[in-house]
Amino acid sequence: MKGKPLLLLIAAGICLPAGDDVSRHKKAMDQVQEWKDDLKDALDAKAAAKAAGLADKLAKAAAQEASLWNKAKQDDALKLANENLEESRQIFTRVKAGNFDQALQTYGRLEATCRACHDLHPEKRLIQQR
Ligand code: HEC
Repeated sequence: MKGKPLLLLIAAGICLPAGDDVSRHKKAMDQVQEWKDDLKDALDAKAAAKAAGLADKLAKAAAQEASLWNKAKQDDALKLANENLEESRQIFTRVKAGNFDQALQTYGRLEATCRACHDLHPEKRLIQQR
């Protein structure tokens, strides 16, 4: 997923995610990855406040992701972004209730949703559409 899709997107001149938006999207994804990894550590350590804060950040990022794919009219990517959002919110709620085992179960689903969207390669599909 390095380099090439970015260049193709710029070359294709598509508006979403295009040019600066692509590098911004990758940076956002890298940040999301970091939050997700930190969340796993916080859940394992049963560090409630930290885990809740990270789940909240992931929810906000997922909401932005949803808005992005909504604009790009990629319904399956939009659906997965919304699932990411729901899972992040559920982890938040479960952590707040002290249900770490359940929160970890939801975490497993969250990871699967991240992977599902990457498997779709919606960024490549945007190019093929033109
Ligand atoms: C709705 C689709 C979607 C969801 C959900 C999603 N991603 Fe991504 N992700 C992408 C796309 C598309 C790329 C390819 C890079 C690009 O075009 O910006 C990507 C790339 C990445 C990258 C590589 C970034 C780089 O520097 O090249 C990481 C890391 C990543 N995602 C982490 C995550 C994590 C962690 C989650 C779940 C919490 C997640 N993503 C959820 C669509 C998604």
